[in-house]
Amino acid sequence: MPRADFPVLYLGDGMPRIRNAVAERFPVRSLDDLPPEIAATIRCVVVTWHTIRIDDAFMARFPKLELVASFGVGYDHIDARAAKARGVVVTHTPGVLSDEVADTAFGLLISAVREMGPAERYLRQGQWAARGPYPLTASLRGRTMGILGLGRIGKAIAKRADAFGLKVVYTGRKAQPGVSYPFHPTLLEMANACDILMIAAPGGLDTRHMVGAEVLAALGPNGILINISRGSLVDETALIAALTEKRILAAGLDVFENEPHVPEALRKLDNVVLLPHVGSASHATRDAMADLVVANVFSWADGKGPISPVPETPGEA
Ligand code: 8YV
Repeated sequence: MPRADFPVLYLGDGMPRIRNAVAERFPVRSLDDLPPEIAATIRCVVVTWHTIRIDDAFMARFPKLELVASFGVGYDHIDARAAKARGVVVTHTPGVLSDEVADTAFGLLISAVREMGPAERYLRQGQWAARGPYPLTASLRGRTMGILGLGRIGKAIAKRADAFGLKVVYTGRKAQPGVSYPFHPTLLEMANACDILMIAAPGGLDTRHMVGAEVLAALGPNGILINISRGSLVDETALIAALTEKRILAAGLDVFENEPHVPEALRKLDNVVLLPHVGSASHATRDAMADLVVANVFSWADGKGPISPVPETPGEA
C-alpha cells in the first residue's frame, strides 16, 4: 500500500525506472492530473529533465513541499536559493555520471580534431574509392587543454587528458588545494594559454555567455571548443561566427542554448560535431542516476535526510 502521507508530483515523461520505484511506496501525480486539494498536499517533486523550470512561483503552488529531487547533476533549471528560502531541499545526481560525461567529452574532442564525421561521410558516399584518401587533419598531439570548471566531471576529463599526453590547465572560481595543474585566474588568460577549451562548469546566470567573441579570439585559429555542460555558457551567435570564419578550428557540442533547437547555421557547418545532449545517456549511467533520485526520495521520506543535496540546501532530516 503506497504511503498516502507522502504524495509526489512527477514532472517529465521519461525515466519509468524512477516513476515505478517511487509509485511502489507513494502516490504519484502528474501536473495534468492534479486537483487543487491534492496539490495542497504534495511533499515532493521529482523532476526528470533539465529544461523543466522550477522557480519560486512554481514552488509557491505547493505549500507542503519539502523536497525537489532532480535527475542530473546540473540544476540550473531549479531556483535553489528560492528553495532554501522556502525550506525546501533540492537533490541532484552528482558522481554517478562523471565518467560517462568525460568519455563523451573525449568522443567529441577526437571526432572534432580528426574530422571523423566528415571522414565517415566521405567513405559512406563512396568518395574514398572515387577520389582517393581523405585529406590529412589537425592533431591532438602537443596540445594544451584548458578546463573551465574543475569539478567532478572536469577532473574525470583531466584524468583522460593526462592519459592522452595532453597538458592540462584550469580556471574556475578559485585555485584548488592539492591540484597540481596550473591555475589561471581568468578564463581569458587561460584561453590565451590553451588550444582546447573544455567547458565543464555549471550553467545558470553566473556563467551565462562566459565564452563569447573575446574568449574565442584568444583561443585562436588552432583552437577547439568542447561543451558538455550547458549551452548557456556559450554565446552561440559568436561561436557560429568564429566557426564560419575559421577563427577557431573546430568545436564539439553536446549542449545548446535553446534545446532541442539547434540553429540551422550550426547544423550546416562541417567543423563542428553536434550531439543531442547525450553526455550521460547510456543505459548503465542513466540507471545509476535514476537510482540515486529514488534513494534521495526514500531517504527523505524515511526521515533520514537527503543523500545528495545541492550545496545551497544541505538539508537535514
Ligand atoms: C542529463 C545533464 O541529460 O546531469 C546533467 O546535468 O545534463 C544530463 O546528464 C539531464 O540533466 C537530465 O535532466
